[in-house]
Amino acid sequence: MARIVGGYFTSHVPGIGGAIVRGDQQAPYWKPFFDGFPPIRRWLAKARPDVAVVFYNDHGLNFFLDKMPIFAVGAAQSYDNADEGWGLPVYKSFAGHPALSWHVIEGLVADEFDVTTCQKMLVDHALSIPFELAWPDAPAWPVRLVPIAINTVQYPLPSPRRCLALGRAVHRALASWAGDERIVVVGTGGLSHQLDGARAGFMNPEYDRFCLDNLAADPDALAGHSVEEVAALAGTQGVEILNWIAARGALGDGELNEVTRTYHIPISNTAAASLVLQPA
Ligand code: DHB
Ligand code: FE
Repeated sequence: MARIVGGYFTSHVPGIGGAIVRGDQQAPYWKPFFDGFPPIRRWLAKARPDVAVVFYNDHGLNFFLDKMPIFAVGAAQSYDNADEGWGLPVYKSFAGHPALSWHVIEGLVADEFDVTTCQKMLVDHALSIPFELAWPDAPAWPVRLVPIAINTVQYPLPSPRRCLALGRAVHRALASWAGDERIVVVGTGGLSHQLDGARAGFMNPEYDRFCLDNLAADPDALAGHSVEEVAALAGTQGVEILNWIAARGALGDGELNEVTRTYHIPISNTAAASLVLQPA
């Protein structure tokens, strides 16, 4: 039976990729953020996942405003990063796991989540930055990818409750997969940030702490807000917390231990966080 080894959560600010390319990880601005990752890499080295199920949001690269699925699941043989280029160069493809993707899709549709299925799909910084932070300098990514994209960019957005339910449905699908893969669940984006409008630069440490403190033990607390309330609390791009909420759901309802956590303000315009949770 497949085994969920835990959850890895991180912000995905594209400028992190620029810092990696320049070798700025120890520069004063970046060090507090990058210092969060050696414990995450050590945990991954022990947990030895061979599949990553990644909840993230596309930023207009694969889906644009003219076609915007609320939930989309990749079922491709491989995925390329073709990002807009403020950070990591476009390189290394991500190997897919189409059989597991289709199993997840079938489980979701049977559970009445009518997702968009993508047999061709580009991925962007929301996926490549978390991979590069987890496995820097790997000649090839050590995990195969099942990407699950949530619309966090164009109104109307799914509710936190719906995203948590989506994640729980993904958990049921993973639990019924007959393979013996070791699966890491990944949630990317957030925490609070707003990139445009009158509140550009807005961050909210109090709401971020509420999310970090409750995600493991009481994710339904995060689902108590409407998505409009989350936009007000976290900023219009802080709604990327939806990816974290869905990923938390995919870890199932068993007890979780917090392995490591960081929180640092600001990285670019974002309150940046990382977190690892593993089954108790
Ligand atoms: C920033 C944050 C994001 O989540 C993103 O997708 C793009 C930019 C930022 O803070 O610069
Ligand atoms: Fe983003």
